[in-house]
Amino acid sequence: MEEQPHPGPIVELHGRCVRRAELVLPPASPSARALRIWVWETADAEQVLTAAIAGGGDPYAAILWPAAVAVARELPGRVQAGQRVLDLGTGTGLCALAAAALGAHVLALDHDAGALRLLEHAARQQGLEVETAPFDLAGDAALPPGELGILADVLYEPALARAAARRVAELVGRGGRAVIGDPQRVGREIFLETLAAAGLAARFEPRSGPGPAGADSVSVGVAWVG
Ligand SMILES: C[S@@+](CC[C@H](N)C(=O)[O-])C[C@H]1O[C@@H](n2cnc3c(N)ncnc32)[C@H](O)[C@@H]1O
Repeated sequence: MEEQPHPGPIVELHGRCVRRAELVLPPASPSARALRIWVWETADAEQVLTAAIAGGGDPYAAILWPAAVAVARELPGRVQAGQRVLDLGTGTGLCALAAAALGAHVLALDHDAGALRLLEHAARQQGLEVETAPFDLAGDAALPPGELGILADVLYEPALARAAARRVAELVGRGGRAVIGDPQRVGREIFLETLAAAGLAARFEPRSGPGPAGADSVSVGVAWVG
């Protein structure tokens, strides 16, 4: 079976031109079956950028990033049925959908309301339950309850990387864990420094994943904390 996301035909949903990008997750055990998950990804980068410039959302939320693919592949065998999972900066929601397919209670958070609508749509179509809520990772509000926090590709700006470290410390401080996927973005060092200041360490292990829209393989570091 294919393991890379595949672009499907272009359709218009919630005012955005999108197409399916699909991933087959490895089975959690030799007796388990592989899971096929897909998300709605933008098919028109120009449309997304124009909307973002006019104040209509975060262009990064419209793309399925290699970090999400790398983290989603880590979830079978690690996410337990009934576990409460938060996907922070969910974007197209691949990790949220993967965790839901594994039986977790998932809350997907992002500041882009349009991305959340597309994720809800994809979840319904796949018969999966994913709760969504608008949330500012860099804001003061406490995270909702969660035992595992997923942070895929949110270290690309210094302020966001600092906020991500603060959110990881918040989760671990409550007895939870976090998994972070990062393709060596500019905020990696700031993230590690901020985490260290909170008494925590993250060790990124290299994984390879497909690039955006079927581009060449991208190396992604994945770290589990807590
Ligand atoms: C590079 S994308 C990664 C999306 C998804 N996790 C993935 O890997 O495919 C970054 C995501 O973080 C979200 N984001 C950025 N800043 C945020 C903030 N302050 N609060 C909440 N979400 C934010 C963006 O809207 C976008 O969905």
